[in-house]
Amino acid sequence: MRPKATIFYRFVQEELRAESVIGETITLPQAGASLDSLKLAICSCSNFPAGLFNVYDAIAHSDADVVVHLGDYIYEYGEGDYGTNHNTEALNRVHDPKTEILSLEDYRMRYRQYRTDEGLQLAHQKKPFIVVWDDHEITNDAYKTGAENHDEDEGNYQQRKNRAIRVHGEYLPIRTDNGAIIYRNFEFGNLVNLVMLDTRIIGRDKQLSFSDYFRADGNLDVAAFSQAIGDPSRNLLGPEQLSWASSTIGGSGASWQVIGQQVLMGKMFVPAELLLSIGAIASGNATPETFQQLLQLITELSVLKTRALQNDPTLTNAELSRINSVLPYNLDAWDGYPVERERLFSLLKGKNTVVLAGDTHNAWNNDLLDSGGNKIGEEFACSSVTSPGFEGLFGDDPDTIMGIERAFTLLIDNLKYFDASRRGYVMAGFTSGSATASYRFVDTIDSENYLVFEGKNAVLNT
Ligand SMILES: [Fe+2]
Repeated sequence: MRPKATIFYRFVQEELRAESVIGETITLPQAGASLDSLKLAICSCSNFPAGLFNVYDAIAHSDADVVVHLGDYIYEYGEGDYGTNHNTEALNRVHDPKTEILSLEDYRMRYRQYRTDEGLQLAHQKKPFIVVWDDHEITNDAYKTGAENHDEDEGNYQQRKNRAIRVHGEYLPIRTDNGAIIYRNFEFGNLVNLVMLDTRIIGRDKQLSFSDYFRADGNLDVAAFSQAIGDPSRNLLGPEQLSWASSTIGGSGASWQVIGQQVLMGKMFVPAELLLSIGAIASGNATPETFQQLLQLITELSVLKTRALQNDPTLTNAELSRINSVLPYNLDAWDGYPVERERLFSLLKGKNTVVLAGDTHNAWNNDLLDSGGNKIGEEFACSSVTSPGFEGLFGDDPDTIMGIERAFTLLIDNLKYFDASRRGYVMAGFTSGSATASYRFVDTIDSENYLVFEGKNAVLNT
């Protein structure tokens, strides 16, 4: 027996002698130490079947100090589902396993497949990652006790969630074995207190749905909807996480409080008729007439809003009502949890604040205002690595995309920048006097030859 055991041992030793590529990383400065500048590459939403991870490659080649990944590092879907496009077969990126991932080994196989992308490999080799999950690391539109994409015949949700969380911790630099508590902070000297939150799993109550509030006559029951959305007991973070956030933010003397989290925090109130029109297209039954109606509507509302901003005294009440009857754009985002958003804003009052967000697959820059109209800070929300943005709904006709971008920034108060069609990341730079968001995009995810373009540069001074 002994020689055999020895042979086996030597075999293992040979295996252990294999050399990996040499990676690079940096460590945090001492708490409170003087730090002049910091660059964080903000990214989210890499869908393997949709295309090459050129955005990760661009980040690897950038001068970012650290990558902040806001989730959707993997997607749970099976072959032919969300994200599938002309690249999927052509670039040999059909999801592995081919079915929706459910078991421990399914989730592990999916991470291993994503890690075959050379852009992602290079990003991990060159940069340290700070990560949180969003929904797709578990399954779509996840919350504490369920998810939109978890069906009864897929087994017990809690057990699936536990498996997904365990594998997330196996493949990414994060500890997930502490009751799935991943909220934590990173102090970059005296410059930035990076507060990473979990808006998805630990405390989130189920999302509201407009469809539950339509009356038989087809109109929204505004009173019932307002009461539901204003329920002070509905949580996105939950009281324990919020209490932890209160102490870390309150106790920090850093120049900047930077909140890294998943979903849009800006107040995205869209004229109701525009939201319904977009909903009709998103339902997948749009005809060319539906698109024409949307463009016509955008034109009409934009004219009315422009006149309102110019204080045009000839605007009728009916016209004003068209632009002032607004609804929150996405009930899965902070707009669906406005009471707790105000609680978080109250912790940030008087601090220099930047909020980072992913999830939407589009790029945004919002002013963050509390219910009293006080500016709390700004939101730098990144586009996706590959997941489709608004162009997935509306097509990539430049005039249509530009029309939607212009209409949104005009019609949504506090929205200052919106890119509706390009894949990219945000380079967030910090000095003691300013925070800068450089919105960067790649020109293709179809080929390894790509170029990086700069979008907006947003600057927030202390
Ligand atoms: Fe996503």
